[in-house]
Amino acid sequence: MGDIKRESWFPTHIWSRDIDGSEQLNSQLLSAIRGWQEEDPKGVAVSNSLGWHSQYNLHRRGEFRGIIDAINDTVAALGRDIGVVETVEPIIYTSWANVSPKHAANRMHVHPDVYLSGVYYVQVPKGCGKICFRDPRPQVEGLIFPVPRGAMWSEVTYEPKAGRMFLFPAWLPHEVLPNMSNLDRISIAFNITYRSRKS
Ligand SMILES: [Fe+2]
Repeated sequence: MGDIKRESWFPTHIWSRDIDGSEQLNSQLLSAIRGWQEEDPKGVAVSNSLGWHSQYNLHRRGEFRGIIDAINDTVAALGRDIGVVETVEPIIYTSWANVSPKHAANRMHVHPDVYLSGVYYVQVPKGCGKICFRDPRPQVEGLIFPVPRGAMWSEVTYEPKAGRMFLFPAWLPHEVLPNMSNLDRISIAFNITYRSRKS
């Protein structure tokens, strides 16, 4: 008999990239975010508990030009990776800053009405909470194959790293585990959609 053949379908992509010059970028971002937080201490309340979540217009504020350029460049690279057609262009639909003090977490959620979501880490103290993605197919939780723990999984977690950006399909459920550090975890998140290029 021949070897058994396995093919894997319906893969879920998660992209990551370390951004050049992130040390300098992050110190600028830190002061820009702290300034914004002082200006608008209430922010908005969504999936975050305890933390500060800015308004959704980060990409329209000049002080964030550096990270917006990095997001646009990375989304363009992602488009080349999966072969997005030339007739459309990506746009940042929403973007915002998160400041998450000790014990702050983000519950499991998805981002509706957009293609891609992403996060960029500005300040990542040790133990500040991993990002966790869950298999979007609820059926797979029904019966896990009898294989060693870790050989099949329905969740995957990433350790955040300052200067690193993650992108993922917006429909992919994800959460951020509680920050157990005494220092704030600070990140910038964004949503991407595509529109027809104007000819
Ligand atoms: Fe999210």
